Amino acid sequence: GAPRPRLAFLGTGYLGTTYAICFAEMGYEVLGFDVDIDKIARLTDGEVPFHEPGLEELLKRNLAAGRLKFCTNLAQTAEFGDVHFICVGTPQRVDGMGADLSYIEAVVSGLARHLTRKALIVGKSTVPVGTAEWVEQLVGKHAPAELGVEVAWSPEFLQEGFAVEDVLRPNRIVAGVNSEWASSMLYAAHKGVLDLAATEDRDLPVVVTDFATAELVKVAANAFLATKVSFINAMAEVCEVAGGDVTQLARAIGYDPRIGNRFLQAGVGFGGGCLPKDIRAFQARAQELGAGEALRFLHEVDLINQRRRTRVLQLAADLLACRCGPAGPDLSGTRIAVLGATFKPNSDDVRDAPSLAVAALLAKAGAYVHVYDPQGMHNARRAQPDLTYAPTMTDAVRDADLVCVLTEWADFRNADPHALGTLVTHRRIIDGRNCLDPALWIQAGWEYRGMGRP
Ligand code: UDX
Repeated sequence: GAPRPRLAFLGTGYLGTTYAICFAEMGYEVLGFDVDIDKIARLTDGEVPFHEPGLEELLKRNLAAGRLKFCTNLAQTAEFGDVHFICVGTPQRVDGMGADLSYIEAVVSGLARHLTRKALIVGKSTVPVGTAEWVEQLVGKHAPAELGVEVAWSPEFLQEGFAVEDVLRPNRIVAGVNSEWASSMLYAAHKGVLDLAATEDRDLPVVVTDFATAELVKVAANAFLATKVSFINAMAEVCEVAGGDVTQLARAIGYDPRIGNRFLQAGVGFGGGCLPKDIRAFQARAQELGAGEALRFLHEVDLINQRRRTRVLQLAADLLACRCGPAGPDLSGTRIAVLGATFKPNSDDVRDAPSLAVAALLAKAGAYVHVYDPQGMHNARRAQPDLTYAPTMTDAVRDADLVCVLTEWADFRNADPHALGTLVTHRRIIDGRNCLDPALWIQAGWEYRGMGRP
C-alpha cells in the first residue's frame, strides 16, 4: 500500500505520550516533542512519567524497535512529521473559567515557522469551539504560504486507566476537516486503528464533519458525562432526605437501555483533569458566543458536584457528634483516616480530586487527618503539602475515630472490616464511593454511612 505518514505528537502530557506510544505500536514512525527536557529524557530512557497500566512496556518495545523517538527541538519535529498532532494542555485560565490557549499558540506558531513542506496539523487538545479556525489563521501567519499547510481537528476520548485500550480501540473517530487532502491524510494516519478494528471484526464509525462540530463533540461528550454523574448525585441528595437508596435506584433506572447503567455511581463526585475544567470552559465559551443560557444547567451540575464534598464533612460531623460552629462543623480533637487521594482508582492523578479536597475540608475543620493512597502519594504531597500522609493503609487507619473511603481502589474495597476494626479507636466509616458492602461492615461492628443510602 501507500507509505504511511510519519506522525509527530506535540506535547507529551497524558494525551500526547499515550498517543505517540500507541501509534508507534501500530507500526507508524513516531516522534514525540515537548519543551520539558526532563520529561523527554525520561521518555527516551523508557520511563512513562505518569501511571498508566501497560504503557511503559509498549514504550520500551517501540523505542527498541526504533519506531519511536522523542525530542525537544521544533525544527527537527517540523522536518520529521507529515501529520502533526497538537496535544498540549489547555488549562483553566487563572483569571476565569475559560481555557488558556497559550500553549497551543506557542507550539503551533513555532512549528509552522519551521515547516519546509506541506503537512497536516491536527488539533487533539480539548478546546473552546472556534479554536481550529484560529489555529488555521496562526498557521497562515507563520508557515510559508507556498507550502499549503492545512489544519484538521480530531478530538480524543481517552480515560485514564484505560488509555492504551482507548487509543488502540476507540469507539469512534471524529474528523473535523475542510479539504479532501486533509481528510485523506487523517485517514492515512488512522489506518492502523481502522485496520485493527477490521481484523477484529469491530465496527469503528468515522464521523467526518466541520471544525466547529468536531470541537464541540468533545466538550459535549464531557458535559454529558458530568451531567450524568451530577444527576445521580442529585438523586442521592433526595434519597438522603427521603430515606431511599441511590445505589438501588441507579441499578433500576440503568436497566432502561435509553439510560444505561454506566456513569451512574453516586459518591463524592467527579474530578480529574478534564470534566471539571471542561464544563467550566464550555460555559465560558457559550457565554462569549451569546448562548450562555443554553449551558446554565452546567453551573448547577458543578454545584451539585461541589456539594458532595461538603456532604462528607457534614456526615463526619454527625458521626463524630461534633458541634457546629458559625464557620461550620468543629472537628478539632478528632482523628480521621482518608483512604484515597486520586480522582479515581488505577491512576496517580490528583487534579481536582474530590478525595483530596475533602481531606483538606476535614483538616480545615480541625480534624487530624491522615491520607493514604496506593499510587497517588507523590502527586498528593505536591498538591496538598499541608496534609499528613501515612505510608500504608494500616498506618492511616491506626487510632482513627473515623475512616473515610473516598477513592474506590480495590485495596479499600477488599479491606477486611474485622482487621481494620482492631486498629481504630472507633468503628465508624464513611463510604464516599458506595464501594463497600454495608452489611459486611455493619456485622463487623462498624457504624456505616454511604452516599445517598439510608
Ligand atoms: C474523562 C472522560 O471519560 C473521557 O472520555 C475524556 O476524554 C476525559 O475525561 P477521565 O478524566 O479519565 O475521563 O475520568 P472518568 O473515568 O470519566 O471519571 C471522571 C470522574 O467522574 C472521576 O472522578 C470518577 O470518580 C467520577 N465518576 C465517574 C463518578 O463519580 N461516578 C461515575 O459513575 C463515573
